[in-house]
Amino acid sequence: QQLQLNLEQIEKGGYDHFMLKEIYEQPNAIRDTYRGRLLANKGIIKMAGVDDNLDRIAKANRILIVGCGTSWHAGLVAEYIFEDMARIPVEVEYASEFRYRNPVITENDVVIAISQSGETADTMAAIKLAKEKGAFVFGVCNVVGSSISRETMAGAYTHAGPEIGVASTKAFTTQITVLTLMALKLGKYKGTISDSDFRVHLQALEAIPQKVEKLLQSDKVIKEIAETYKNTRNCIYLGRGYNFPVALEGALKLKEISYIHAEGYPAAEMKHGPIALIDEEMPVVVIAVRKGHYEKVVSNIQEIKSRKGKIISVVTEGDVEVKELADHVIEIPETIESFTPLLTTIPLQLLSYHIAVMLGKNVDQPRNLAKSVTVE
Ligand code: AGP
Repeated sequence: QQLQLNLEQIEKGGYDHFMLKEIYEQPNAIRDTYRGRLLANKGIIKMAGVDDNLDRIAKANRILIVGCGTSWHAGLVAEYIFEDMARIPVEVEYASEFRYRNPVITENDVVIAISQSGETADTMAAIKLAKEKGAFVFGVCNVVGSSISRETMAGAYTHAGPEIGVASTKAFTTQITVLTLMALKLGKYKGTISDSDFRVHLQALEAIPQKVEKLLQSDKVIKEIAETYKNTRNCIYLGRGYNFPVALEGALKLKEISYIHAEGYPAAEMKHGPIALIDEEMPVVVIAVRKGHYEKVVSNIQEIKSRKGKIISVVTEGDVEVKELADHVIEIPETIESFTPLLTTIPLQLLSYHIAVMLGKNVDQPRNLAKSVTVE
């Protein structure tokens, strides 16, 4: 029994839970994922699965992204990145919906299937359907030799290492890393991103791991926030643009390990109904990085504040405006707008982790959940 406990401790690398270990592994997981692919000093990206099919993918009428849960959220971030950088129309679908709704798919479509485990039944079924209809199917998996990695026609592995915690963390950030590399490569090939912008993006991506390391040092602030809100019955997460999917992902993390009801919304959507939920009992996590429509997020925060909502804000280092309004402020380092999801998701992972631990939940194996949903 004692030996078993010691073995577990060794496997967890001294962390209390696999999930915490995997949150802290993200700087190296991102480095391992772009190693050999992101050659910033040469100004090139090498990805065999993409290089061998570059023309087919670049000429796609449309890119369809299918996945479930956190992988679906990574797909939503990719939608913004691909359309921004490669100007190819992107649609993101839950694999479970896609597979049953008799979708219109042609050989001019490229389907990207995202799956950490590479064994998710709904995602596998979506892949088979897309292949039957002649689409080119590309896989983004974390498990080498998994069923989905063998079923897809080409692919790119994330190199996150084994993800044991049921709540996906490093898989999410490494999926975004792979998809960003793909979008940059396509944009360069199609000329929809200038050479100088391409190089700026390569340098900025290379700098992300140390920015994640810096962020992980703010864990103390996040733990204090967790202490304040651990008994809340509900929570709302808001984001705009690239960070709308991160709001959804933050809400999923809280739901699945602390069992607190949480919802993610595009910040501007609040006035179309959900703002009726706001009162002093409702904490609202707002991702308000100083990018894109920052001023509009500030006014969303003011609307919530005037209804006595509690604001937990994720801002860019040095922010002043939101700091005046929010009850709590978590700062992330400055980076290119399209890379902010790689940073804004970190405090949300830690927030849900600490709340779940304080509530005495089984963080690594939450109730009712499996690490890979291999059944429908
Ligand atoms: C996320 O934290 C969950 N574990 C779950 O939503 C997961 O992302 C989903 O089941 C998809 O799994 P996959 O990436 O292995 O296909």
